[in-house]
Amino acid sequence: MIRFLLDGEMVEIPDPDPTGTVLDYLRYALRRTGTKEGCAEGDCGACTVLLGELAGDGVEWRAVNACILFLPMLDGKALRTVESLGGDHPVQREMVERHGSQCGFCTPGFVMSIFALYQSTDGKVGRGEVNDWIAGNLCRCTGYRPIVEAALAACSQPRRDRFRANAGDTAGLLAFLADSEDLFVGDEDNFFAAPASIDSFADLYERHPEATVVAGATDVGLWITKQLRDLQKIIHVGRVRGFDRVEDTGYELIVGAAATYATVEPHFRAI
Ligand code: FES
Ligand code: FES
Repeated sequence: MIRFLLDGEMVEIPDPDPTGTVLDYLRYALRRTGTKEGCAEGDCGACTVLLGELAGDGVEWRAVNACILFLPMLDGKALRTVESLGGDHPVQREMVERHGSQCGFCTPGFVMSIFALYQSTDGKVGRGEVNDWIAGNLCRCTGYRPIVEAALAACSQPRRDRFRANAGDTAGLLAFLADSEDLFVGDEDNFFAAPASIDSFADLYERHPEATVVAGATDVGLWITKQLRDLQKIIHVGRVRGFDRVEDTGYELIVGAAATYATVEPHFRAI
């Protein structure tokens, strides 16, 4: 079983498809069709949603591509989709005011990436910062200038949305969900496993050396969505304690198997 938060409510899925995508779950199971499928390979950003994780006493939100995110990867996290914003969020209002949308297909994705920026920063942001946050979103008809203007305008206002007001509640629920247990979905022949320790990982991999090991799954996701391959055994390293380690000893940089590029990048910049 996996458990996660969707708009502050706990969702439990007893028997999730080990390689089903979050995008398919949103569109076909929940009918949250605001999240779009453009490329289904992590390039266009039409499927952008936000994932929240506990970070200290607060919540850290990341924009991710739902089209190549496996459903069991939601376990223990908070999820927000474009429907979560309700239609009257400052980011949405500025997109309307500044004509940031034409055909609208890319719009939910842009809104969610800008919403991630809005949630993750305080005070004004610059054009370069906006460009960075929407770098994963493509628009084929509006052009980017009005979208960037909308982001700048939304983020020039005091951040007083209900999501910030409820951040403490979300953090509390995420703390409740947090556990140090191994996650195993499926059976011995067809599974998604997320071991919580190096020992569990080693034991599982020894028993299933043919399993596909993934971290972000940004390439393996395409094996499923594009090559239609049937991957029967997946081991996710994102939960293994210590695998997210990034350590700069002064003469070497040690990067754990589950460290994200975002956490490593500042060290690269410093070199
Ligand atoms: Fe294009 Fe997901 S549908 S990035
Ligand atoms: Fe048409 Fe962006 S508004 S693709």
